[in-house]
Amino acid sequence: MTSQSPTILVFDSGLGGLTVFREIVPLRPDARFVYAADDAGFPYGRLSESELSDRVVSVMGSLIDAHRPDLVVIACNTASTLVLTRLRERFSVPFVGTVPAIKPACAASQTRLVSVLGTEATVTREYTRKLIADFGQGCDVTLVGSRRLAVLAEALLRGEMVDDADIFDEIAPCFVERDGLRTDTVVMACTHYPLLDAQFARVAPWPVTLVDPAPAIARRVVDLLGPSKPGAAPEAGRMVFTSAQPPSSELAQALHKFQLLC
Ligand code: DGL
Repeated sequence: MTSQSPTILVFDSGLGGLTVFREIVPLRPDARFVYAADDAGFPYGRLSESELSDRVVSVMGSLIDAHRPDLVVIACNTASTLVLTRLRERFSVPFVGTVPAIKPACAASQTRLVSVLGTEATVTREYTRKLIADFGQGCDVTLVGSRRLAVLAEALLRGEMVDDADIFDEIAPCFVERDGLRTDTVVMACTHYPLLDAQFARVAPWPVTLVDPAPAIARRVVDLLGPSKPGAAPEAGRMVFTSAQPPSSELAQALHKFQLLC
């Protein structure tokens, strides 16, 4: 990749990909960033595989035409575990995906009890099951599909009240006790969930390591595009919503903190 100031498109169903975006910006402050939220299709966790696959290919076609990115980050596990191969076949731009960080989580677990918390769709994917078979390293892996956490994460980002009890209900099945041992590692297999890490830590029945793949994804972007030009300062990126609805003032303010302008 030779472009001096590449355009990087970061894509998610909604606002979860911001947790990946915020790790990439400091490593490539010279890049032009476009963050695209397919809010018209949110939440992806509730779409069937064929609906989601067709939707992502079609939305991506329009985004690539409009923004001509040098690299696309699919900052969404629900999409990446299903449609990455199809995207790579269809478009020539390089794609970096986000898939459950099962390998590092299982390598780090002391108790060998690991949970994978994702959307209901991500935890039932063949792709996720294969990651466990290939990289589970003998750990006892519990798959936990959450129906509501991505929506709760977006509500919190918009400044709405989110009840700790609602979060607890969603994450409780991650906490397993077996033969005197407890789960010590939880893979955040949805990019929305790091937006809730303070809440997770507060309601967790015992402390666990929460594994967020975002720093590794940012490093992968640099592997592909090369390092930043020295001395570059980040400029605000562009925020795009597929619904074309203007964001509320609370959301625009939150996006401003991520250095994104609508
Ligand atoms: N942020 C997404 C993920 O990483 C998807 C959330 C959703 O749209 O259901 O899986």
